[in-house]
Amino acid sequence: MISSDLYRIIQGIPKAELHLHIEGSFEPELMFEIAKRNNITLAYDSIESLKKAYKFNNLQEFLDIYYMGAHVLLHEQDFFDLTWAYLTKVHSQNVVHVEVFFDPQTHTDRGIPFDVVITGIRNALEKAKLELNISYKLIMSYLRHLSEEEAFKTLESSLPFKHWIAGVGLDSSEMGNPPSKFANVFGASAKHGYKLVAHAGEEGPSDYIWEALDLLKVVRIDHGNRCLDDEALLARLLETNIPLTLCPLSNLELKVIQKMEDHPVTKMLDKGIKATIHSDDPAYFGGYMNENYYETAKALNLSNDQLMQLAINAFEASWLDTEEKETHVDRVKVYFDSLNLLV
Ligand code: ADE
Ligand code: ZN
Repeated sequence: MISSDLYRIIQGIPKAELHLHIEGSFEPELMFEIAKRNNITLAYDSIESLKKAYKFNNLQEFLDIYYMGAHVLLHEQDFFDLTWAYLTKVHSQNVVHVEVFFDPQTHTDRGIPFDVVITGIRNALEKAKLELNISYKLIMSYLRHLSEEEAFKTLESSLPFKHWIAGVGLDSSEMGNPPSKFANVFGASAKHGYKLVAHAGEEGPSDYIWEALDLLKVVRIDHGNRCLDDEALLARLLETNIPLTLCPLSNLELKVIQKMEDHPVTKMLDKGIKATIHSDDPAYFGGYMNENYYETAKALNLSNDQLMQLAINAFEASWLDTEEKETHVDRVKVYFDSLNLLV
């Protein structure tokens, strides 16, 4: 298949994005614009020099730049603009449902009130629901390099807004910050009605995935690449149908894999794991949903059936209700049937 045909097929797939850090969708152009209006001087003197710094050897090198970028966000309007830019971009890629992470501590630790952050993000999500027909869930992520006590404070701050928040996640520097560190705050979050997910097995070992399942009791694993190291874990994931939200371009840029051909998604699909594809931090890793699907499909020579499976898995793994899931899954199937009629 020639590349433009593959891209066209991917463009047409109705897609769900389940692993996206809103701060990771901050494009350099918008970052400079917001920095200017907030009278903040960035450490880089131009968009070009900032983009040149986007070369990472591991997760921590990326996180250092990612947190720096987020420092220009001060006002509700800034959070709105950031989120709206992401939503209009993915709308153009036929993404119809998003489950978006935000990192409150990245902002509250700088003195930005929780309500400023969440109101800006939520207003953009609501506008997209009305104007772009994109449904959404909002997920508050605890930063794992900080203490559990600080996560508890964040949980407390979130409670007046809990009707806006579908669940909690766990992100930031994985090595040395195992899920077990956050078992109590995840338990408390569940008691408040939040659904639970966690990044695990991105750089960290398969033990961290076990901990996320057994101690945090998550319903999805973000990344989870390292599960292939562990047969018993694979059996557990299969038995419980726990989805993995994979991010191929992120894995490549953060050297979790050395080349796209090494990405584990095909092996996971072959084993029956509910693997899904997402963008993680698209402004930093060179692509949104279409590019993630495209680069993966090209490198691994994915068939239309595999692309369809990935798209269906994402809707099934989402937090939409059963009826909504079925509607989306049917649309994906109708789309692929229409392609087969053309052949
Ligand atoms: N925060 C933003 N992107 C992340 C990633 N890929 N892993 C952990 N924390 C993150
Ligand atoms: Zn992530």
